[in-house]
Amino acid sequence: MNARRARSLAVKALAVTCCSRLALLERELAEPLPDLDGPAELVFGLLGPADAEEYAALVPGASPEEVSDRLHAGERGFAVRHRGRLVGVSWAAFGRVRVDYLRATLALQPDEALVHGAFVAPDMRGQHVSSQGGLYRLRWLRDAGYRRVMAAILPENTAGFGPPEKLGYRRIGTAYAIGPGPVRVARLVGRARNSPASRRRSQGRVGRPAVSRVDVRAGCDDFVDAVPG
Ligand SMILES: CC(C)(COP(=O)(O)OP(=O)(O)OC[C@H]1O[C@@H](n2cnc3c(N)ncnc32)[C@H](O)[C@@H]1OP(=O)(O)O)[C@@H](O)C(=O)NCCC(=O)NCCS
Repeated sequence: MNARRARSLAVKALAVTCCSRLALLERELAEPLPDLDGPAELVFGLLGPADAEEYAALVPGASPEEVSDRLHAGERGFAVRHRGRLVGVSWAAFGRVRVDYLRATLALQPDEALVHGAFVAPDMRGQHVSSQGGLYRLRWLRDAGYRRVMAAILPENTAGFGPPEKLGYRRIGTAYAIGPGPVRVARLVGRARNSPASRRRSQGRVGRPAVSRVDVRAGCDDFVDAVPG
């Protein structure tokens, strides 16, 4: 077993038994969106009930019911098609969002969204499908009136950080959930770096860092629940 696989297994074992953590990123939608290159023939849109079977065939472990369940719960699904084939998906959730991996709930403000569940067909990876799909998603959310988008990523998932970084997300901290079995206490640890909010707050405070705990709480207003998952 190589070191990377051993580390991945150790992280999974800790997540199941006592400790899980996710990196949190944010992106203010008032900031300009980037221009990105990608393959031609990509078509972007929303996922609907008619896509359920194709979604389940694309995403390992997913069922067709997952699509209707998420849509009924108020989430928006995003689709990328290449020559008609579904090759990329992702979701945006709103309000009080259950984060199963942390066994905790993230309470979002009404103008915030949590994006998650990005998946690209293995044969289409490395061609900016996720980045381009993420750009469409940011535009859609901005046009729908959302102000801020957050993402939660497994710290070990190197590939997972690539598209958000290309799209201008910034890491603001790490959410830890600690406790035996399903009973977890979730906490956010981190500092917002260089966000517009932190820049505004830091104006005129010479000698103080442009970050504070308030920055982190401002958008997350905390992982409030620590209940059995
Ligand atoms: C993560 C995932 C969605 C990325 O999709 P993708 O379409 O291949 O990503 P992109 O081509 O848009 O990559 C954008 C950037 O991410 C980085 N990146 C992508 N894949 C990477 C990898 N395997 N290793 C390191 N960096 C990677 C690169 O910097 C890339 O930009 P560049 O090509 O200009 O250098 C895809 O690998 C996937 O579906 N993985 C399995 C599910 C998953 O981990 N989802 C993320 C959950 S948060």
